[in-house]
Amino acid sequence: MNDTSSTRETLRLEADAEGVARAAGILRAGGLVAFPTETVYGLGADATDGKAVAGIYAAKGRPTFNPLIAHVPTLDVALAQGRFDAAALALARAFWPGPLTLVVPKAPCCTVSDLATAGLDSVALRSPAHAVARALLDAVGRPVAAPSANRSGRVSPTTPAHVLGDLDGRIDAVLMGGSTAVGLESTIVACLGDGPVLLRPGGVPRAALEQALGRRLATATAADHGSADGEAPVAPGMLASHYAPKAGVRLQATRIRPGEAALLFGPAGVEGIGDARAALNLSPTGDLAEAAAQLFAMLRDLDKTGATTIAVTPVPDDGLGEAINDRLRRAAAPRPGPGD
Ligand code: TXA
Ligand code: MG
Repeated sequence: MNDTSSTRETLRLEADAEGVARAAGILRAGGLVAFPTETVYGLGADATDGKAVAGIYAAKGRPTFNPLIAHVPTLDVALAQGRFDAAALALARAFWPGPLTLVVPKAPCCTVSDLATAGLDSVALRSPAHAVARALLDAVGRPVAAPSANRSGRVSPTTPAHVLGDLDGRIDAVLMGGSTAVGLESTIVACLGDGPVLLRPGGVPRAALEQALGRRLATATAADHGSADGEAPVAPGMLASHYAPKAGVRLQATRIRPGEAALLFGPAGVEGIGDARAALNLSPTGDLAEAAAQLFAMLRDLDKTGATTIAVTPVPDDGLGEAINDRLRRAAAPRPGPGD
């Protein structure tokens, strides 16, 4: 079922009770189903079935050292899979269901396959808030491994059309659940015994986490991520070039050069906009939640104009801005060419 050398028909399933039941049946039989979460669309497989998980890596073209998030319906189910210390419990109670992933030591009875955890002795767990995702997880009755439903290294999908653009013919089905509300991936926090560490900024802002913890949150540094020399990274989502449109991305633009596509933020005008090939505004009112929800779709739309560069005006770094700027820096990072 997961031989990606042969193409297959990708079913478009309505996100209703019948579609969710069919999707759950496909997942339980070892197939691949893309489904909406409140952050981005996930590409799901039965996390306990190594062969099914292998299908995710094949469909995405993802390096196999990159571990996956196991999605569960409730904290109770998560407690059977991972060992939660006081910080992990406090965060799960404050933000689940929601856009937060916790990396915790595997529990002795953890059923998540070694392929999904990339052989680590920790497991990434998330209980999503999206009603369709929750219904699906209930119906599957097993943890569902799901990275974002895009080809590896590409922009994460926030609509079924994005998913199909990358993966049509490579996966078994898509649950057609409309646009995702948050638009950025979950925040990832590791709770591995040395205090909580922010591995990836995302849908839950740092200040909210720190308030729930009653303490400052340490941040993983680039040195913690041995990606450059091929070591298993702590959070390979932090691989430098990860959220990459085809166009180059120029950050902190204060004027737009002729022929560039412009990605704006806020009400202020910007010099040169009249000569832009195209312009979109993440949030004309300067609302960071709206900007997060629009980010990936607007990067895709500007990329489609064929512009060689997308110029992005400054986005403030507070609240969800930390995650938005993280994704923009990755989109702008140098990426390996075809010969590398
Ligand atoms: O919002 C999200 O998190 C979406 C939706 C579908 O849930 N998922 C998502 O998955 O963004 P993905 O695979 O694109 O990113 C998961 C990140 C990767 O950077 C991976 O390296 C990290 O989680 N991760 C998974 N297991 C880990 C572990 N045991 N230790 C450290 N990092 C881990
Ligand atoms: Mg991803």
